[in-house]
Amino acid sequence: MTPLKWDEKYILNVKEIDDEHKNLFSLFNRLQDGMNTGKSRAELEHALSDLIDNTVLHFATEEKLMQQFSYIGFVEHKRVHDALIAEAKELQENFSQDRIELSEQVSVFLSGWLTDHILDMDKKYGPLFKK
Ligand SMILES: [Fe+2]
Ligand SMILES: [Fe+2]
Repeated sequence: MTPLKWDEKYILNVKEIDDEHKNLFSLFNRLQDGMNTGKSRAELEHALSDLIDNTVLHFATEEKLMQQFSYIGFVEHKRVHDALIAEAKELQENFSQDRIELSEQVSVFLSGWLTDHILDMDKKYGPLFKK
């Protein structure tokens, strides 16, 4: 799997959010690079938890702004965040318990939700936060 490339299409023009999204891309790429170069399990676990912890923080930033701006899609958006975190935590738990390997499938899942979530859902609140 190739690294995620930051692209204009992900920009929401909300600086705080764009910076956090970029950071998540680079944390994903660090994990991906670790997988590609056969880093130790401990290093991969560390990279995975950095990605997940920062995602949790990022979702909290978005949810705070959504509430602040009385965003109409808040409940649905938060539901999606919670579901993504639950899925990512389950994956993390399975990996740390040695029940799964970090495979191509895992990369596709992680990179897919990062990019799709920005393009599908985050893009919708962009114009509101910009005001
Ligand atoms: Fe986001
Ligand atoms: Fe989001």
